[in-house]
Amino acid sequence: MANAQDTQYPTETVTEGKIKVVVPNLKAYGVCPSDYAPSRAPVFYNPVMEFNRDLTVLAFQAYQRLVDREITICEPLTATGIRGLRFAAEIHGVKAVVSGDINLRSANLATQNVALNNLQDCMEVQHKDANCLLIEHSAPKSRFDIIDIDPFGTPVPHLDSAVQALRNKGLLAATATDMAPLCGVHAKACVRKYGGRPLRTEYCQELAVRLLAGSIASIAAKHDIGIHVLFSHCSDHYIRVYAQIGYGCQKADESLKNMGYVLHCFNCLHRETATKPFPDAAAKCPECGNKMNYAGPLWIGKIFDTHFIDLMIEGNLHTAFRSSGKITKLLSLTHEEADAPLTYFVLDKMSGKFGLPAPSVAAFFQTLKNNGYVAVATHFNSRGVRTNASSFVMKEMVQKTLASR
Ligand SMILES: C[S@@+](CC[C@H](N)C(=O)[O-])C[C@H]1O[C@@H](n2cnc3c(N)ncnc32)[C@H](O)[C@@H]1O
Ligand SMILES: [Zn+2]
Repeated sequence: MANAQDTQYPTETVTEGKIKVVVPNLKAYGVCPSDYAPSRAPVFYNPVMEFNRDLTVLAFQAYQRLVDREITICEPLTATGIRGLRFAAEIHGVKAVVSGDINLRSANLATQNVALNNLQDCMEVQHKDANCLLIEHSAPKSRFDIIDIDPFGTPVPHLDSAVQALRNKGLLAATATDMAPLCGVHAKACVRKYGGRPLRTEYCQELAVRLLAGSIASIAAKHDIGIHVLFSHCSDHYIRVYAQIGYGCQKADESLKNMGYVLHCFNCLHRETATKPFPDAAAKCPECGNKMNYAGPLWIGKIFDTHFIDLMIEGNLHTAFRSSGKITKLLSLTHEEADAPLTYFVLDKMSGKFGLPAPSVAAFFQTLKNNGYVAVATHFNSRGVRTNASSFVMKEMVQKTLASR
């Protein structure tokens, strides 16, 4: 059991959302410009993740409205306790929050912060390994409604115990910050951790989300559990997936039908999905005949649910977060791209490939639409476009846009 006790390192008190928290004073830990102060401090604290925590509050509130009953939340990698404290203080219908951390100083500081906010009645902090905490809650009556895995790097080591500690229809939220493996810089590490091959394409952030969702689906399926992805995003240096689970072998089988591959031609930028086992050494690009490359297995199903995003949008209208404007933009973009074609083209990459200057985003979208093609923006890249036009047609569209200037 963690204890609230005096900290022996430089701290300051900050406010975020409706709570105040004692956190390490980062000025004492970022001596050189290359120092990453949040990790150098005795207890991890990253103020930049406020946006992530604001968005999580909205998503969990949306989930609580969906299930319409009192809920319990577990946050087994809590650091200062800031995330769990915000759930306890800001989400209506929260019965209990159980937070934990393997670092004693974190558990102690989080315990101190629970007392500072008078939240002892609905929040407890445990000094424990995350997987131990989760497995202790895997028996039917002690499972959680929501589990938030917010680690350093990959959440994968905690996914197996997390799905077991969730009740039927529970929500799993997982952050991944290991973008180098997920975006194909360290492909072998990605295969080892996520069970799928990444690809260094201009839409690798979307592939990263799909690799994480695919990993959650595969791990859940081992326990006869299916998943439904309610929301996902890539922001700053991380990706995050919110997946609702459902018990039953049929649900697991159904969700595994969303596993597949994204095939990509590096010669002409054509891409398509496949559900058949890959690699097929003979796979040729239907546009240019070049050999196709592939990413996967990964999740090729939906990565956004418009009804869930509607609930988050509504919630955002009733809050006054510092990041509300950024949240509004993200939710509106993800709502739009929810049902749009899988993967996106990036204007500059595509124009460069065709040996042409890049047209303006607005003009290019207009050309696509004028010619009867889908043109939808994506939150993954401000110069990205989701479309049903082939890569061959895209070249023609870039030329048309440039000619009409
Ligand atoms: C990225 S920080 C969490 C940040 C926090 N969720 C927030 O929003 O500020 C990851 C935390 O996980 C803790 N941790 C690492 N391995 C752990 C394990 N096996 N079990 C429990 N906690 C662990 C670290 O001590 C660290 O405090
Ligand atoms: Zn091709």
